[in-house]
Amino acid sequence: MAETEPDLDALFAVAKAAQRQAYAPYSRFRVGAALLADDGAIYAGCNVENASYAVGACAEAGAISAMIAGGGRAIRAVLVLGDGEALVTPCGACRQRIREFATPETPILIAGPEGVRARFSLAELLPASFGPANLPA
Ligand code: THU
Repeated sequence: MAETEPDLDALFAVAKAAQRQAYAPYSRFRVGAALLADDGAIYAGCNVENASYAVGACAEAGAISAMIAGGGRAIRAVLVLGDGEALVTPCGACRQRIREFATPETPILIAGPEGVRARFSLAELLPASFGPANLPA
């Protein structure tokens, strides 16, 4: 079954706007995330750090919270945007957070300030993953 391609320009614009709102006074590394959900909406998140460093939250976690609160129930695509030379791929914990609402085929787009730099499937970033179907109904 052919899936509709996500609107990358729209995802990028939403992630860029969220990145500007990031609260990252400690790392100074601002991240924005945008999720295309099953309801057709795009949900945004940014990293929110904390003086108690370990309590800080990633942009992806915020976007997932926004999706659930807004009524979305499945992730169709993810775009993560950060500065610097290296690809800002989701951390391990966020890969698992995404997994809860996505499939192994869900595209994860990694962007820098200039645009999308790389595209992965969730399975490439989190192979042989554990998900909701692993638990008894
Ligand atoms: N960060 C994210 O928000 N998402 C990622 O995919 C990578 C890292 C945040 C966490 C922390 O606030 C800052 O970037 C530096 O690690």
